[in-house]
Amino acid sequence: MKKFITFEGPEGSGKTSVIKEVEKALKAQGYDVLVTREPGGVVLSERIRSLLLDFVDESMDARTEAMLFAASRRQHVVEVIRPALDANKVVLCDRYIDSSLAYQGVARGLGIEEVYALNLFAIEDLIPDLTLFIDVKPEVGLSRVKSNQREMDRLDLETLEFHQKVYEGYLQLAELEPNRIKVIEGNQPMDQVSSDAIREILDEG
Ligand code: TMP
Repeated sequence: MKKFITFEGPEGSGKTSVIKEVEKALKAQGYDVLVTREPGGVVLSERIRSLLLDFVDESMDARTEAMLFAASRRQHVVEVIRPALDANKVVLCDRYIDSSLAYQGVARGLGIEEVYALNLFAIEDLIPDLTLFIDVKPEVGLSRVKSNQREMDRLDLETLEFHQKVYEGYLQLAELEPNRIKVIEGNQPMDQVSSDAIREILDEG
């Protein structure tokens, strides 16, 4: 059984709903489950989240952005993720290091290796046991976000070209780390997406 599971995908991929379903299913099987999200999860990281997402300022430098995400992640690891894993909980985390690799590394053009190195400083050796990439094309995801009338944040408002690069970035990461990152077809009914996710989590392979 995997203990530290992260969920990744473009905006509107349905990650949050999948996580809720997975949480329910694992709890029903008696697991002690903690659900959390990035950027955020603790007071300091939520403060950094609002700097990153609410502040519509064209001038935010890409490296500044990458470091703020990494700083937020560091605090989240120390205050929430590490203690939960030490207490033998299953941690389901909405976004983690691969978001930084896809958004800042690929879409912002900082480079996967550079952003990985920055993040290793933040997470030390806390790499997820399993990462589920919910595969939904960016144009489909963005139109879902718009039709759900969720408020658009600073990154949602990026160009479609940017979101396409994010998507390509995720596919590249899945190819680089096929053992850790599993691709889940996101264009199917939600209960099917969730059961695919649960199957991967319970898979002992
Ligand atoms: P959310 O919409 O899933 O809450 O994520 C917030 C936004 O932040 C989303 O557009 C992805 C972006 N993001 C990054 O660019 N880098 C990161 O490391 C993380 C965690 C999120």
